[in-house]
Amino acid sequence: MNIVRILFSPTGGTKRVADILADNLGESAGTIDLSSAAEDFSAGQLDAGDVAVIAAPSFGGRAPEIAVRRLSQIHGQGARAVVVCVYGNRAYEDTLVELADAAGKAGFRVIAGVAAVAEHTIARQYAPGRPDERDTAVLKGFAEKIAGKLSGGSMAGPVLPGNRPYKKGGGAGLVPKAGSACTACGLCAQKCPVQAISQADPGKTDAAKCISCMRCVAGCPVQARSVNKVLVGAASLALKKACSVRKECELYL
Ligand SMILES: Cc1cc2nc3c(=O)[nH]c(=O)nc-3n(C[C@H](O)[C@H](O)[C@H](O)COP(=O)(O)O)c2cc1C
Ligand code: SF4
Ligand code: SF4
Repeated sequence: MNIVRILFSPTGGTKRVADILADNLGESAGTIDLSSAAEDFSAGQLDAGDVAVIAAPSFGGRAPEIAVRRLSQIHGQGARAVVVCVYGNRAYEDTLVELADAAGKAGFRVIAGVAAVAEHTIARQYAPGRPDERDTAVLKGFAEKIAGKLSGGSMAGPVLPGNRPYKKGGGAGLVPKAGSACTACGLCAQKCPVQAISQADPGKTDAAKCISCMRCVAGCPVQARSVNKVLVGAASLALKKACSVRKECELYL
């Protein structure tokens, strides 16, 4: 089976989960990186024999708007798809259902859904080190079950958790800033999924464009970018109760 990975993963947690599933489903047939601001996604074409692993993180219980918009430009052309939502151990609410709807509109046939946990990229004390060994074993088991459904030729869609209309979306409002250690190398501006950082002056970030994905913070080679510690502290406190009990991976077939 040819597996195409279609990923929005600003800081890599979603990619780690998707890779475990895809590696255990079949041969890699390439990756479409929805985090890239430079790509022409309408050039992405699959065919009915392909299988796609379509993965995105949960941002506020929703699929990131930019990921949905870019996914909708790809031509699924009847390829079967596994939709994967990765969240920071709070909740994923309408993310999986929204991702499945977007995949369906792009011409994919969704045959499975997976929800999995990775480190919370804003409040990093939650779900550290995940996906861990236990998650990996569980995800490998999921891949086996999905492969069984695929090889049986089933086109049946799973019943996914979540509501329509989706819950109200909205940004986290945490816009990272460059500190004095910044060498103006421009890497963060190059990698920002929504081009919110000025190429000419990486010290300048367009707050209206920023989706608080934390890619620039995680990827700065000299750790020069950060978010306001007081705001992160407040967010961490608000998340404490919901995030402290370990959530397990889920499969919907
Ligand atoms: C803006 C933003 C909003 C988030 N909202 C949620 C959420 O609603 N529920 C949750 O459990 N985790 C939430 N998280 C955590 C991410 O879903 C989680 O860390 C995910 O692994 C990030 O994916 P990535 O590593 O591929 O970037 C949020 C993270 C960010 C940056
Ligand atoms: S990646 Fe870091 S050092 Fe490079 S421009 Fe961005 S903040 Fe500055
Ligand atoms: S500026 Fe905002 S959107 Fe761009 S990488 Fe940083 S956090 Fe993400």
